[in-house]
Amino acid sequence: MVTHLLLGERLLRKQRSFFKEWPVKRVLPEDFDPIFKAGPLGPTTETEIRTVGAYRVYGGISDFETWIICNLARNAKQIFEFGTATGKTTYLLAANAPQATVTTITLAPDALETYQEAAGDNLTDSRAAKDVSRFDSFYYQGNKEEERIVQLFGDSKEFDPAPYKGTMDLIFIDGSHAQSYVESDTQKALEMIKPGGVILWHDYRGPKRAKDVFSVLNKLSKRLDLAWIANTSFVAYRPR
Ligand SMILES: C[S@@+](CC[C@H](N)C(=O)[O-])C[C@H]1O[C@@H](n2cnc3c(N)ncnc32)[C@H](O)[C@@H]1O
Repeated sequence: MVTHLLLGERLLRKQRSFFKEWPVKRVLPEDFDPIFKAGPLGPTTETEIRTVGAYRVYGGISDFETWIICNLARNAKQIFEFGTATGKTTYLLAANAPQATVTTITLAPDALETYQEAAGDNLTDSRAAKDVSRFDSFYYQGNKEEERIVQLFGDSKEFDPAPYKGTMDLIFIDGSHAQSYVESDTQKALEMIKPGGVILWHDYRGPKRAKDVFSVLNKLSKRLDLAWIANTSFVAYRPR
């Protein structure tokens, strides 16, 4: 029993120091947004969403992440997504934000040569970005939500954010995870977000997976108040 307790304590300490190595501060969902405040029986029915399971979805997000992002999208009028992939998250954002237009950009499979690798980009992240650029038909097609979805094709470094300046309530950054793209998409997102809106980055997974996302966000956290949402790989930022 004592050994068990000691082992448990040691693991806990290890975990704490493990989390300490992740510079973006870890925040409970309810501390980022009060909608996630749970009652004695768990989350309130106000957080109920329309969803489809994260089963056999190439390059998608988890069910818990879907619940988080769709609740943050709930009252949005303008949503932007970097990286469409299957379009399942695009569809669920439109389904759960009934007043929103969802604009999403992706690299089409026949445009891979337009991808602009830069010095310093992690090779694995660049390869993964091209590998997941395999979709030219999307989950939302044929659904009524399609009317509120604007699909853009192209390399996100070529995308001009100027017409969207200060208009977005929610921006989801989930395109190429290579350094120069995370930096470029982030710069554009910061231009497009409204005060009080939310930027979410996917794949903050530590120093071993999606390494460039980890290093870019760690650096950014020195100048912006970023929050790593507990039990997700989301990092969130709400400019005031
Ligand atoms: C991880 S997937 C996105 C997953 C999607 N957001 C979801 O939740 O299901 C990455 C997406 O980024 C796109 N992408 C990769 N490099 C890109 C680039 N340079 N410009 C635009 N989109 C890019 C890929 O084509 C792919 O659709």
